Amino acid sequence: MALQFSLLHVSAIILLVLFSFLLSHGESAATQGVCSTYDHPNPLAELFPNNATGVLNATLAIIPIPLETARRLIPPQYGILERAYRALIPDFPDGMYPVMVQAAHDHDVQFRAYGVTIDDFSRVGFEFPFLDLLGDGYSSFRWAPAQLISATNEIALEGSRKYGTIVSPAEYVPLCDAYRRMANGATYFKGTSLTSSDLFELEMAEIPHPTRNLYPLELFKNITNQPTFANGLSCDNMIRLFNTTMSVAEYAPVPVHGRVRARAFPFQGDEKEWVDIYGVQVATPFIENNYLDCRTMQGYSGTGGPGDSYTHDLNPNDEL
Ligand SMILES: *[C@@H]1O[C@H](CO)[C@@H](O)[C@H](O)[C@H]1NC(C)=O
Ligand SMILES: *[C@@H]1O[C@H](CO)[C@@H](O)[C@H](O)[C@H]1NC(C)=O
Ligand SMILES: *[C@@H]1O[C@H](CO)[C@@H](O)[C@H](O)[C@H]1NC(C)=O
Ligand SMILES: *[C@@H]1O[C@H](CO)[C@@H](O)[C@H](O)[C@H]1NC(C)=O
Repeated sequence: MALQFSLLHVSAIILLVLFSFLLSHGESAATQGVCSTYDHPNPLAELFPNNATGVLNATLAIIPIPLETARRLIPPQYGILERAYRALIPDFPDGMYPVMVQAAHDHDVQFRAYGVTIDDFSRVGFEFPFLDLLGDGYSSFRWAPAQLISATNEIALEGSRKYGTIVSPAEYVPLCDAYRRMANGATYFKGTSLTSSDLFELEMAEIPHPTRNLYPLELFKNITNQPTFANGLSCDNMIRLFNTTMSVAEYAPVPVHGRVRARAFPFQGDEKEWVDIYGVQVATPFIENNYLDCRTMQGYSGTGGPGDSYTHDLNPNDEL
């Protein structure tokens, strides 16, 4: 009974926040018609009507940086679980740490039971996985301290700020998709802050011979399913499903290679350009549980991986 009460309480708070934004920003719903996207519809809304669900169509890329640099950028209280990432990428160069850039389009986010749908938005930022937030030596958490988020989406901007994230309202190219295909076949993505000189620009090309892809999909599944935090006061549990019709066959993850140009926290100084960057482009549906007590996620190993299968096999009671 006590549990039920607290869940209701949390839902009520989230809904209040959502509705107050929907009411005060009703005009954004009207402008959504301008955007048409290639993203597939959210297949989880019906299965998990009482949860926030959506689709993330993303480019995920790894930027290797020296461990000393990582140590300088990451707050000192969070240990780096080098053994955890070496278990997944044993050949990763010595003395290096994998920063992930996530450049994504958030599509068809719903809270079905309450009839709430949030406008699509884009977001991009540096993410620092495999961090020992709880000091237990084994639970991996991901620090995502700053994000550029579509300036038009107040709910997303405010939702991220509530984690203590440094949020920049931003504009995107393309406006309504995860990336744009250029004449040469490569893809293009750019996010530009409207309030600072922060930016991210990605140009990625499919790797013709995927054996040259440096990182297994397992790495990206693992990182994107690690609970995320910004100031460490609460955690975001986003369950990304890699084995649904959205990410198989014709839509299977595409290994990509290219360059990332960026200026954003926690990197300091001028913009940087990294070339010879490897990653993957993949769209996944997700279930998101917001503002959790990070300690409840100790030892979390939901993978969004093998076992969650196709959506029509999913049951709301399944362990993900
Ligand atoms: C992801 O976005 C790309 C670029 O817009 C699009 O071609 C692709 O169909 C999308 N994938 C899914 C499964 O939504
Ligand atoms: C859906 O939300 C409820 C209440 O917040 C939570 O207990 C449950 O774990 C969520 N379901 C999934 C699959 O995460
Ligand atoms: C991530 O990989 C580590 C091994 O480094 C493993 O212990 C953990 O269970 C994996 N977690 C997820 C969420 O896949
Ligand atoms: C994906 O789901 C299908 C159907 O349930 C299953 O046969 C397959 O083994 C799964 N693949 C992975 C990589 O988990």
